[in-house]
Amino acid sequence: MQTKFNILFIGDVVGRYGRRALRNSIDSIKSKYDIDFTIVNAENAADGFGINKKVYAELEVCADALTLGNHTWDKQEIMSDMDDMDKLIRPINFSGKSPGVGFRIFKRNGIEIAVINAVGRIFMIPVDNPFYALDELLNSPKMKDVEIKIVDFHAEATSEKQAMGWFLDGRVSAVIGTHTHVQTADERILPSGSAYITDIGMTGCHNGVLGFEKKQALDRFLTYIPQRLKVCKENIQINGCVMEIDAKTGEALNIVRVQEAQS
Ligand SMILES: [Fe+2]
Ligand SMILES: [Fe+2]
Repeated sequence: MQTKFNILFIGDVVGRYGRRALRNSIDSIKSKYDIDFTIVNAENAADGFGINKKVYAELEVCADALTLGNHTWDKQEIMSDMDDMDKLIRPINFSGKSPGVGFRIFKRNGIEIAVINAVGRIFMIPVDNPFYALDELLNSPKMKDVEIKIVDFHAEATSEKQAMGWFLDGRVSAVIGTHTHVQTADERILPSGSAYITDIGMTGCHNGVLGFEKKQALDRFLTYIPQRLKVCKENIQINGCVMEIDAKTGEALNIVRVQEAQS
């Protein structure tokens, strides 16, 4: 049985340029890091806002699991299409009445890998408490025999993300931050064995504001008039991280950041 898993996690893919970069580079990144399992955050993949059927089809060939965030419902059609998307995971602490699922369990070489998505509440839309939602899931029988558990904690506030890291340390293999689109340099293995990083960054244009054209983004701050944001296309980078996980114990052995220019 395979004893160590290398898991790649790609940060928020923004629009067509982010998708193209990912498609072009994913094979070389996977072989460079000898990747066994890939998770991609896709909440900004369709024109910067949400995901749809076409974009899902494009991304699912690159990834084993696709996570979301506060932009989950931006493309309304996803609500009815989601049932057919067996790699897609939306935040677990949305309303219980929401379509979709908040976690999925995948099996690779006899090992179960749970991918769990949650959103934060600080400076974000009001949702259920992510700490209690994750606590309940991790205490449930569904998770009992799952060897590897990866949490995508999609949140704005560094404090909430760090608190989640400590809350879940030793109970999951990794707490990976997404949403702010800027990679942080605080990757580490916490004392009880969970990998942690506050944010893995964004896949897309790095010469704008969070992947969007700087003109409209700046005008919003200067005029307070809502602007239609357009994804930008310069300085395309792929951001993420790679974790090495002990499949027997579920503990993280290593975490490194990934920052690749488009190949
Ligand atoms: Fe995002
Ligand atoms: Fe987000």
